[in-house]
Amino acid sequence: MEVAKTIVSVRGLVKAARSKGKRIGFVPTMGALHIGHIFLIETAVKKSDFVVVSIFVNPAQFGPGEDFEKYPRPLEADLEICRKAGVDVVFAPACRQMYPSENLTWVNVEKLTEQLCGRFRPGHFRGVTTVCAKLFNIVAPDIAFFGQKDAQQAIVIKRMVVDLNVPLEIVVCPTVRSPDGLAVSSRNKYLTVEQKKDAAFVYKSLQKCREMVDVGITDSRTIITEMRKILSRALSIEIEYISIVDAETLQELDRIGRRVLVAVAVRIGSTRLIDNILVDLSKQ
Ligand code: PAF
Repeated sequence: MEVAKTIVSVRGLVKAARSKGKRIGFVPTMGALHIGHIFLIETAVKKSDFVVVSIFVNPAQFGPGEDFEKYPRPLEADLEICRKAGVDVVFAPACRQMYPSENLTWVNVEKLTEQLCGRFRPGHFRGVTTVCAKLFNIVAPDIAFFGQKDAQQAIVIKRMVVDLNVPLEIVVCPTVRSPDGLAVSSRNKYLTVEQKKDAAFVYKSLQKCREMVDVGITDSRTIITEMRKILSRALSIEIEYISIVDAETLQELDRIGRRVLVAVAVRIGSTRLIDNILVDLSKQ
């Protein structure tokens, strides 16, 4: 496995692989790799011939007062995970590689970034789409892998790729959960044992939604009320939002129907957690 720190070196490695006819798979990450990332990497290894993982904690997607400074950066452990998982190249640039001077050019996906997390993290998605556009230009992959846990991010990136005619397939992989249902996330590292127990209520609330849909209850307001009750059992949870939206347009829905995203964001102490499920009544 090669570790590229510069744009020139990662481009050279990818160019060499492509000249041998290899299909380039790409997993963008901010490091602090966990089993969710390993699943993305394993999928990339299966679906492509040459896998690049980027590890870059992107300052542009953190708002003032968010956890950019304290975001975990265990680079050696991350490299070991990548090596074991069969990655070909890790691209781990310093900040000055990615942003050598003041960034004046931004990629902004409209509308889809205004709801859900976009309401609570102004500028976040502009930072994500800008860094992903830069990474896609640098790595020039054929196929890139994102997690369903960050559902809005995946939807926004898919739209950016379509709108900007990026010749790239986006694959969204299912959320990986710990046995209690908690969606794995680098930010789970911030939680105490007690907070982790509370965090499991997020998935319990989503399961409640699924149970209600299974018995024919589809009214959003009724479902959200019951989900709130579940979350209120966890004393440390502060709800940011519970939203039932169309899984493509992210518009709020009064009633669950086809391709619906049920998304939750909470705060536990200073840690922000998100999770979601997809519900599709046409597949019931
Ligand atoms: O999902 C993430 O880890 C980040 O938002 C991403 C896609 C690597 C962009 O910095």
